[in-house]
Amino acid sequence: MQKFILINKKIDQFKKKSISIPGDKSLSIRFILLSSLTQGKCIAYNLLKSDDVISAIKNIKKLGIKIVMKKSKCEVYGNGLYGYKYKKNLVLDAGNSGTTARLLCSILIDAHYPTKITGDESLVKRDMNRIIQPLKLFGAKFQNNNGKLPIFIEGTRFTKPINYIENLGSAQCKSAVMIAALKTFGITKIKSLPSRNHTELLFKNALNIPIKVNKKKKYDLIEVKGKNEIKPFNYEIPGDISSAAFFIVLTILSKNSQLILRNININPSRTGIIKILKMMGAKIKFLNKKRYKGEINGDILVKSTKKLKAINLNSSLNSSAIDEFLLIFLVASKCEGASTFVNLSELNKKESRRLDWGIKILKMMNVKVEKIKNHGIKIWGNKYFPMDKKFIIKDYLKDHRIFMLSTIAALSLGGHWKIYDTDSFKTSFPAFLNTLISLGAKIK
Ligand code: S3P
Repeated sequence: MQKFILINKKIDQFKKKSISIPGDKSLSIRFILLSSLTQGKCIAYNLLKSDDVISAIKNIKKLGIKIVMKKSKCEVYGNGLYGYKYKKNLVLDAGNSGTTARLLCSILIDAHYPTKITGDESLVKRDMNRIIQPLKLFGAKFQNNNGKLPIFIEGTRFTKPINYIENLGSAQCKSAVMIAALKTFGITKIKSLPSRNHTELLFKNALNIPIKVNKKKKYDLIEVKGKNEIKPFNYEIPGDISSAAFFIVLTILSKNSQLILRNININPSRTGIIKILKMMGAKIKFLNKKRYKGEINGDILVKSTKKLKAINLNSSLNSSAIDEFLLIFLVASKCEGASTFVNLSELNKKESRRLDWGIKILKMMNVKVEKIKNHGIKIWGNKYFPMDKKFIIKDYLKDHRIFMLSTIAALSLGGHWKIYDTDSFKTSFPAFLNTLISLGAKIK
């Protein structure tokens, strides 16, 4: 397959269109891992079939769990909390998926043999210390390469509950500790900066695991009690707001356009992007809101917005928009005035150095932009900057979100774009290009 796409034309206006977005990635990966720990058959509907989720499935299968995919239905035959078949010299490969790598470690705290966990060239650059430190406290042993993959984890039968302070605002760290806590006798207490709360909601409303969540001003206090058995569950996975966000921004920045995105997860711990875009003046509405197993799902109506205004964002919404900042930077480049975003050093710890890439792409587009220390960005918006030049996007560690961001910039702002790594977006959104084409995008 061709290794790049070419875009030479903005998308024509689209109206009265509605699209669905594939299943949420965080929920899909959590479904696979958690269902494998139950005692019986679990079914997910609308599971995301992307490379990251397939990595999770492959690894769980290697641990002896039967998983059957039938179109959009996925059956997992859990074998109990302690039911994995551990083998000597087992190697688990999480591919590009940080969530899979980090949450896999948490379910291996009772692994009988040293188990190797590795990943692709992007994942091996990412920090694993953030989960190694708490998981060690449970009693697991790690041999690791300076906190990076590949690591070897050897579990223990004598796991013990822990007290843990999670101060990165990382849902992966919080979830890793919560899941490991299930395999202990006793109560694990977590004091955690707010982050997406899918694991808490799944524990409470799908797995029937009684957990305590006490929301304080700055922290959440969470208590998880170890279990002997978890009952199987079924789950209907809603659309992923992080994938929907590309289409929301495309619509806002395109002329005379309007779009409905159907059945998207609009959990408030994920809708920072919507709140921020609305602060900038974007026209977005939620329709048909429904509660489902503790989550809120609904349709999103979005319209093009002519007048966008700059904002100075404090960091309280950072974790609820953590995967969407590249798109927010793109919208800021079209706002009237200068916008600032701070305390975003975590962005440089994602699949690629996203803060730096955001700055690089905006500079290529002749947008005035400045890095604020090591953690922020100031963007001087300009409604009419000229885009009639060539842009080549490559060497970005195949980060799916850089590929999709560049595609949206090309289709909404114009210019001649050559964007490399056409496999990258399959990690989270394999239908991305086809969905754009269904709206009339011309992509070669
Ligand atoms: C995720 C949490 C976030 C996010 C990632 C998915 C999750 O990472 O960036 O795409 O499913 O828990 P952090 O926990 O590192 O913030």
